[in-house]
Amino acid sequence: MKVDVLLGLQWGDEGKGKIVDFLAPKYNVVARFQGGPNAGHTLEFDGHKHVLHQIPSGIFRKNICNVVGNGVVLDPIIFKEEIDKLSPFQVDVSKNLFVSKKAQLILPTHRLLDAADEQAKGAKKIGSTLKGIGPTYRDKTSRNGLRVGDILSPNFKEKYDALVSRHKVQLSAYDFEYDLQSMEEEWFGAIEFMKALTLVESEHYINQQISSSSSILAEGAQGSLLDIDFGSYPFVTSSTTMAAGVCTGLGVAPSSIGEVFGIFKAYCTRVGSGPFPTELHDEVGEELRREGKEFGATTGRPRRCGWLDLPALRYAIMLNGVTQLFMMKADVLNIFKEIQICTEYKLEDGSVTRDFPYEANEGTVEPIYRAMKGWDCSLESVEDLESIPEALKEYVAFIEKEVGVPINIVSVGPDRLQTLVKGELIA
Ligand code: GDP
Ligand code: IMO
Ligand code: MG
Repeated sequence: MKVDVLLGLQWGDEGKGKIVDFLAPKYNVVARFQGGPNAGHTLEFDGHKHVLHQIPSGIFRKNICNVVGNGVVLDPIIFKEEIDKLSPFQVDVSKNLFVSKKAQLILPTHRLLDAADEQAKGAKKIGSTLKGIGPTYRDKTSRNGLRVGDILSPNFKEKYDALVSRHKVQLSAYDFEYDLQSMEEEWFGAIEFMKALTLVESEHYINQQISSSSSILAEGAQGSLLDIDFGSYPFVTSSTTMAAGVCTGLGVAPSSIGEVFGIFKAYCTRVGSGPFPTELHDEVGEELRREGKEFGATTGRPRRCGWLDLPALRYAIMLNGVTQLFMMKADVLNIFKEIQICTEYKLEDGSVTRDFPYEANEGTVEPIYRAMKGWDCSLESVEDLESIPEALKEYVAFIEKEVGVPINIVSVGPDRLQTLVKGELIA
């Protein structure tokens, strides 16, 4: 069978964790293909809230294999903590969690380098999650990184020391103080723990599953507008967050990609620095943050909030070849009598575009909004898409018409059960 892909179409935090958990029973395998502990994917069910960073969001479903693919950068300390937190929930990671030997390891010094880089950038900082993501991918592409499979090598410590020596030289260029020793003790403890996990050549595993007609869902992290190539560079993450990243991050041929589920919030958020054309700096922005509880799942930082941005959404749909859209957090807009939606941008030269331009900074693009009637009521008792308020139906239909892709899920709350599905959802 083909590999379906679920990914975020905005700046991350669209609700990927919730929907992967919701869809997981339809699949045999759920696999992460990029990113690392910069991700924070929230799942809510049975009165519990779980935040996963590196573990795929199929982990709570029985009989599903969860794979951490080669494209991921893995922090052993955070991984161990995440696995420890699963123990009260009858999750047996010895059976349902596989880790690629080719995934790159995040070292304590990668985290230090991330922090030192950001400190040196001052006001121009990216607003990184400080998890060491950029420095780890940098070592991967400069061919200096350590991989999960290396932990089984008899000369692992030697390899580690060689890389850390390079990092110490790099750190000496910064005015940055650090204490590595305590971080290293914890890290090596977590490495020992990892040796007992199922470490695999995941590209072989995934391709065997494809051949034996197993169904696979690839779970994206971050969002399309944080992609290293197509995001608002340099205010991006360091991986390919797009559907294309599934091929390199899992070892899957392009012809094996099936459905591409694009997930977006009914409005926009962003955490960290960088352009955000529809950002609201007023009371409405505050209301969105309050209603949507828009605080980072990984860092706790307040998320910047604004109206839905259709030029940005069209761009992400185009780049990913999205076949179905899922709209999240519709309930957050319940309080508004009127909702704005950005349909086009006015550029500096006065021209108007429906496309996402090279620069989308404040001053270079001015969003053109269309006002839509709000539904102005609770969605709590709504059980299916047919019975959503007329104004929400119009909001959904307008977006579908503007972007040319059907919206097959509307999410109306954080819980697994608060998910409204159109009849024809293919998965
Ligand atoms: P992810 O990184 O894409 O998995 O998203 P996050 O977990 O970082 O952020 C999404 C947040 O919105 C989480 O707190 C979810 O519990 C919550 N959430 C998801 N879907 C909905 C929804 O439809 N309505 C509301 N109110 N919250 C939602
Ligand atoms: P999920 O998977 C939202 C942002 C950071 C920063 C930029 C670079 O939960 O949607 P990095 O640490 O990757 O070098 O930071 O990317 N960022 C995210 N924003 N959700 C995420 O993941 C993010 N992962 C990274 O805030 O602006
Ligand atoms: Mg998140």
